[in-house]
Amino acid sequence: MVIKVSYIHVRDVLEGGYDGQKVHLRGWVHRIRKQKKMVFVLLRDPSGVVQTVIKKAAVRDEQYADAEKMLIESLVTIAGIVKADERAEGGYEVQVEDFNVLHFAEDFPITEDQSIEFLNDNRHLWMRSRSLTNILKVRDEVFNSAREYLRGQGFYETTSPMFVSTMGEEGAELFEVEYFGKKVYLTQTSQMHLEPQLFAMEKVFILAPSFRAEKSRTRKHLTEFWHLEVEEAWCDHECNLKRQEELVSYMCHSVANNRKYELAELKVDPKRLLAVNPPFDRMTYSEAIETCQKGGIEIKWGDDIRSEAEEFLTKESDNFLFVEYYPKEIKSFYMKDNPEDPRTYKNSDLLGPRGFGEVIGGSERETDAQLIIDNLNRIGDDPEKYKWYIDIRRYGSVQHSGFGVGMDRLITWMLNLEHIRDCIPFPRTVSRIFP
Ligand code: 4AD
Ligand code: MG
Repeated sequence: MVIKVSYIHVRDVLEGGYDGQKVHLRGWVHRIRKQKKMVFVLLRDPSGVVQTVIKKAAVRDEQYADAEKMLIESLVTIAGIVKADERAEGGYEVQVEDFNVLHFAEDFPITEDQSIEFLNDNRHLWMRSRSLTNILKVRDEVFNSAREYLRGQGFYETTSPMFVSTMGEEGAELFEVEYFGKKVYLTQTSQMHLEPQLFAMEKVFILAPSFRAEKSRTRKHLTEFWHLEVEEAWCDHECNLKRQEELVSYMCHSVANNRKYELAELKVDPKRLLAVNPPFDRMTYSEAIETCQKGGIEIKWGDDIRSEAEEFLTKESDNFLFVEYYPKEIKSFYMKDNPEDPRTYKNSDLLGPRGFGEVIGGSERETDAQLIIDNLNRIGDDPEKYKWYIDIRRYGSVQHSGFGVGMDRLITWMLNLEHIRDCIPFPRTVSRIFP
């Protein structure tokens, strides 16, 4: 006869509902401390760690022998009685009555005080650490809440190809791929293939990787990052900014409300996230340049706003900041002309608080096929290559806007992480493609 056991999670124990009761747990040996007549095991599962104690007198001899010989990361099942105990991390201890080692781990290569390089070389093992586990669970919430918000607003989730034949943003940052003897690229943005889809569905989004062959070795650059791209018909520049404010606030609140334990363990105050609410601050590009100049930063109208200037603009503020109406020369050809200042497009970058820098880029899109052709000619690109993209402006061209959220950057900001690679399971940077 097979006896079916109901396993609970560590979190259920730590929440206090099982004090004095017998429970069944399963997971990995996070830490182990061996004494003469007892072995203390910190048991880990996705929900947390709990102290368990295996006393020689309480279990069978062979079970105790197993406990004495097992190493960290061994896989175990445990049955025992929960006891409130102030000395134990989390306030509870499980006194083991029965336990089995399902897999004896080999000597785990990760020990305390190892270099970041070593930990990243062992990312496949390091991700079971409490910090990475918590971060990945927050990441899940961010992805899920974006979908939840957008679907709730009537958007359809769709997909686009990763192999493309045209550039979307900076030509210099394209990854070339050999494609049956032809040169193609890994996509830098899904926008070009998303816009045609709004003619079918009006409100659409894609959550997919974008690839950038940027040689920037900064804390904010990945070569493969996760990009949430949104396109909305019947939506102008104002509507586009409102959409971004609502989406970002929704994601921040979802993390604050649904990932309390993880935030606590990561030492992030949820108030930081609950404080994110519309309206965000706004400033035109021209005002931004003036502000930077007054602050002693060497910059002139027409220059890109690089990290130093971006940091300066928000360093005193806890609010997100939209910078609007950038010059045409430093932005992309598909953006809508700004009639109030023809040197500029109706676009925006969203900068994170306290000097964090850009997390979203967006714009109203140009609806006039000829203006897009003119823009391409002006920057020396060949409109023929974009025929399909321009075509959508020939058949019922509709006002529309969109934006792209750097999801990894947003998570980095939310959790106050030191480096963007810390928020993604297997980061890809200029210097890392392993494991
Ligand atoms: O500003 P970007 O280049 O805009 C676009 O690609 C538009 N086509 C998006 C759109 O309108 N659909 O990129 C959008 C965002 C940036 O604001 C930034 O947060 C993130 O993508 N991003 C990166 N994140 C991590 N590593 C990189 N190398 C990134 N490059 C851009
Ligand atoms: Mg940008």
